[in-house]
Amino acid sequence: MDNRMVSGDIQAEDESVELSLRPQRLAQYIGQAKTKENLKIFIEAARMRNEPLDHVLLYGPPGLGKTTLAAIISNEMGGNFRATAGPAIERAGDLAAILSSLEAGDVLFIDEIHRLPRSVEEVLYPAMEDFCLDIVIGSGSEARSIRLDLPPFTLVGATTRAGLLTAPLRDRFGVLSRLEYYNHDDLCAIVERTADIFQVQISKEAALEIARRSRGTPRIANRLLKRVRDIAQVKGESIISPDTTKQALQMLQVDEEGLDHIDHKLLLGIIDHFKGGPVGLDTIAATIGEESQTIEDVYEPFLLQRGFIQRTPRGRLVTNKAYEHFHREVPKG
Ligand SMILES: Nc1ncnc2c1ncn2[C@@H]1O[C@H](COP(=O)(O)OP(=O)(O)O)[C@@H](O)[C@H]1O
Ligand SMILES: [Mg+2]
Repeated sequence: MDNRMVSGDIQAEDESVELSLRPQRLAQYIGQAKTKENLKIFIEAARMRNEPLDHVLLYGPPGLGKTTLAAIISNEMGGNFRATAGPAIERAGDLAAILSSLEAGDVLFIDEIHRLPRSVEEVLYPAMEDFCLDIVIGSGSEARSIRLDLPPFTLVGATTRAGLLTAPLRDRFGVLSRLEYYNHDDLCAIVERTADIFQVQISKEAALEIARRSRGTPRIANRLLKRVRDIAQVKGESIISPDTTKQALQMLQVDEEGLDHIDHKLLLGIIDHFKGGPVGLDTIAATIGEESQTIEDVYEPFLLQRGFIQRTPRGRLVTNKAYEHFHREVPKG
């Protein structure tokens, strides 16, 4: 949808490199300690019992490592990895075909699982619960349902919108893991790991600079590193330096907190036109020329999460932190 440097959504430029950057084993997966610890225990237990792992739901913002983790689960369990996505499965028959081709111990990964059509979702219930498939043959008064057994498999679902999942589907997952935004140290480690794979050297301070501006998101960190590397290369720098990193990120319009021109427009719009608010979403939208929905779904979550704005019953309010960020004087009262 958008091509912001700081968007967690996958972009064309990410696709060519992501495959090579994905850690393959749990031990290489950086951060997310709680999720990793849980999965490790569940995986070990399942392997000891020689059973498939319970179905796993991974949820959280884009770019935090859900797809990566799904593939890791499959690697750790030792079966095949079969990947599809909610919007790609239009009919119940499509899912039935996928399910009946699974082998024992496989991981079936359904990305954006909240976008599965309801009629398709219903095929999943018996498959998840009893490893079987109910198929209707014939039609009208001749119609009858037969039950096919499926091999034991693990469904790994991923979603950015856990709230949109229906209760019956959510309840059939044994393991629910929310991925969190990464802290600077973990992101720094991810940048250093990626630099290794790119076969470039980067100073610790430069890696931290990228980490700080990556909005807690590995996909963004990797994307920024790639751009910084290109600029360092053109400058003939053998070890990427903090100075070059800062210059490059300034050129890319990603500031010290990972805010870009759109964030600036939004925050400064409220500061300059509405004395910091509170101001209604629609009024902000009209003032800065963006859709209310886009502001609410795409631009605002990070600013809220990092405490640059607050939601109040009377509208959006810019915080002192935002004033300080722009070196503006905080208004009295
Ligand atoms: N914990 C991690 N350690 C190292 N790299 C990671 C980690 N999580 C994500 N990445 C990197 O970030 C990129 C995006 O991760 P991905 O799994 O595609 O995110 P999601 O599916 O949540 O949008 C991957 O290519 C991978 O290189
Ligand atoms: Mg993904």
